[in-house]
Amino acid sequence: MYKKMVRDSLIPYDIYIADKFDDITKRLEHIKKEENSDMFLIYDKSLKEDYKDIIEKIKNNFVKNSFSVKCKEVNKNIHSINEIYEFLIENAAKNDAILISLGGGILGDLVGFVAGTYMRGIRYINIPTTIISQVDSSVGGKVGYNFSDFKNYIGMFYNPLEVIICIDFIYTLDKKEVLSGFGEIVKYCIIDDKDLLEYFQINIEHIKKLNKNTMLELVEKCVSIKRKVVSKDFRDKGLRNLLNFGHTVGHAIEVDSQYNISHGEAVALGILVALKISEYKLSLDKKTYSYIEEIYDLIGMNKYYKINNMDKLIHTIKGDKKNDSSIRFVLINFLGSYEIGVKVEEEDLIRAIKESIEGDKIYG
Ligand SMILES: NC(=O)c1ccc[n+]([C@@H]2O[C@H](COP(=O)([O-])OP(=O)(O)OC[C@H]3O[C@@H](n4cnc5c(N)ncnc54)[C@H](O)[C@@H]3O)[C@@H](O)[C@H]2O)c1
Repeated sequence: MYKKMVRDSLIPYDIYIADKFDDITKRLEHIKKEENSDMFLIYDKSLKEDYKDIIEKIKNNFVKNSFSVKCKEVNKNIHSINEIYEFLIENAAKNDAILISLGGGILGDLVGFVAGTYMRGIRYINIPTTIISQVDSSVGGKVGYNFSDFKNYIGMFYNPLEVIICIDFIYTLDKKEVLSGFGEIVKYCIIDDKDLLEYFQINIEHIKKLNKNTMLELVEKCVSIKRKVVSKDFRDKGLRNLLNFGHTVGHAIEVDSQYNISHGEAVALGILVALKISEYKLSLDKKTYSYIEEIYDLIGMNKYYKINNMDKLIHTIKGDKKNDSSIRFVLINFLGSYEIGVKVEEEDLIRAIKESIEGDKIYG
């Protein structure tokens, strides 16, 4: 095991960072011995081939039954939730059951919600398999699903029993999903006090190659930032909003693209818009925008997006959960220094979109 981040009163579950699959089965063995409860595996259907061995090992040794879910953003809805409920009911899952989520951010959010609501709450273990879910979504206890065109509108705060992050999963992600993970990591780099951005920049070649040791360190650094922020504002009433940097526009781009743009890539675009608005509102030095653009160029992150329907995009932004009657953004004064809930006028938002991301140019 590479690292164990021990639970405390603020983050009441252990987070394991594993560097090999055996560490996962060792943890499950331990839990099975300790708990004496039925466990159920819910896994991302797309993992079936690449991870046959580990899935079979879990099925044969630890769980009563298993169920696979097609993990696409368009399926992150009540229908998938109902399918998991039905599976649990068919298998007579009781209120001491433990669910194991093996998949990315979509699955973790769905399984966490099912766990939080089935029989008024059962336990779940999150084993995240994408970079986004390892650096971000598996920690913090936000679970839920999309309603109509609104991302993550239905949900709750519900902590897992534990999180087991195994870096070996990331080597089967396609380029798009790796970039998606980098988008969320760049967010951490911007909100952190420079250390992470420096680390990212110095190690950029290793990161692009997904060097194992570098990725282990990077995951640990991002999870530490997330733990720190979440521990101060679990219910997202203030500081935690910081983790949404780039997400207000990001979520709307996901919807505008009918989820053809991945979550992290949309966040990366949303970050550029937020930086541009930060120039207008908080006099952010223009060099910061160019600096982040350079990093995008180095990692091959797309900087442009052709908006399909600007009116609808603005409507989606206005409907963002973080907004009251005004449009509100997390903005930065400089790297690592932020302001939460800054009111932004619609004209400035549209101007920022046009002056930053709007365009046809897409990297191949
Ligand atoms: N709860 C939170 O705090 C939080 C934070 C950030 C993002 N999210 C949510 O997470 C989701 C995005 O996360 P994601 O990118 O992990 O989504 P995802 O679960 O859709 O995974 C992305 C794609 O990778 C595939 N995949 C998963 N693991 C793989 C592996 N090891 N190898 C190859 N392919 C694999 C999936 O089938 C899917 O096609 C969004 O729905 C977002 O809203 C939640």
